[in-house]
Amino acid sequence: MKRNPAAPLLLAVDTSCDDTAASVIYGKVVLSNVVASQAQLHKPYGGVFPTIARTAHQENWPRVVALALKRAQVGWQDLTGIAVTIGPGLAPSLEVGITAAKELAQKHQLPLIPVNHVEAHAWSVLAEAKPKNQSVAEAVKTAELPKPKFPVLAVIVSGGHTQFVRISALGNYTILGETLDDAAGECLDKVGRMLNLGYPAGPVVEEFAKLGNPKKFPFPLPMTTAASFDLSYSGLKTHARNLIAKLETEKAIDQQTTYDLAASLQHGVFAHLCYKLTKLLQQVEKTDTPFTEVWLGGGVAANQMLRKTLRKTIKPFGLSLKAPYTKRLCGDNAAMIGVMGALHVAAGDVLPEPNTLQRQPRLSLVKK
Ligand code: KG4
Ligand code: ZN
Repeated sequence: MKRNPAAPLLLAVDTSCDDTAASVIYGKVVLSNVVASQAQLHKPYGGVFPTIARTAHQENWPRVVALALKRAQVGWQDLTGIAVTIGPGLAPSLEVGITAAKELAQKHQLPLIPVNHVEAHAWSVLAEAKPKNQSVAEAVKTAELPKPKFPVLAVIVSGGHTQFVRISALGNYTILGETLDDAAGECLDKVGRMLNLGYPAGPVVEEFAKLGNPKKFPFPLPMTTAASFDLSYSGLKTHARNLIAKLETEKAIDQQTTYDLAASLQHGVFAHLCYKLTKLLQQVEKTDTPFTEVWLGGGVAANQMLRKTLRKTIKPFGLSLKAPYTKRLCGDNAAMIGVMGALHVAAGDVLPEPNTLQRQPRLSLVKK
């Protein structure tokens, strides 16, 4: 296959939590994006059960990798490297993907590119779909990597993270605010569990919220007296628990009440995020280099109401929102790992010896 040597053609693997994901990317272009979800396996536990996740990853990864290559119409001989998530995430889950990537790299004599999962969520907005009428051979001749203008504000909203991050350059990050306890997605999942909405509850909350009244049960706005841009979702969770308990004793939870609770919860979760974001942008406007744009990433970025609310929040500051081009790039996936890996390779980052790669369950965006 003839390639444009300016962009790497990578297989990417992500097993950071409960999804077994593999993808083939060419530069920023997604040639395949395969995700084997374990949601059904973890449903009875209302959260991810680490040993079950590890076993399922071990069973799934060979098929997921084979399918990613097949869908991309790419052979091992075409690849220029393998990108793999090394953290943050669940240790037993991360271990499976890293071991698989090492095995494949050795067998096919390919370099390994370690990727930070949260960094990849932040940059996932840059991934692009292969144009439908373009052949893979055509795509790999032309794709190039984007050159964004900085500083960018990344808003990462997932089940494990809720962060405002200034991106000054590739690898140059400042965490401007983050949750001190639960992440936004975690809050939606935990309250959703109280309402028997299954796991993960976030997408169900979004659908139910469309049928409910967001003003029916007002949620408190946390941390309004704190000067920082940090967030806290545990108070909203406690508020929801007390409210649901009260409604249950009153035998007042019918279907419409559940819709209203979902709408009110979603409104409360996003209002807190947008309140702190407004404060942050006001401060930056007074004292700092303005952001060029806002990038939204993470599982909760799939939520259309969040996108709409964020757009409204940042518009007065002259900012526009970039979000991933498909929902499949919001939740955990390997395409974002591939694009992140490609950016690091193109930037000339020194790659580690494959056998020195280790899982880093608590990996942060900034060195602590
Ligand atoms: O990024 P992700 O797949 O995993 C982590 O890295 O955490 O995010 C998963 C989170 C879950 O909390 C899930 O409920 C939430 O994203 N989520 C949503 C939606 N889709 C997924 N939350 C609200 N609305 C959605 N449509
Ligand atoms: Zn994630």
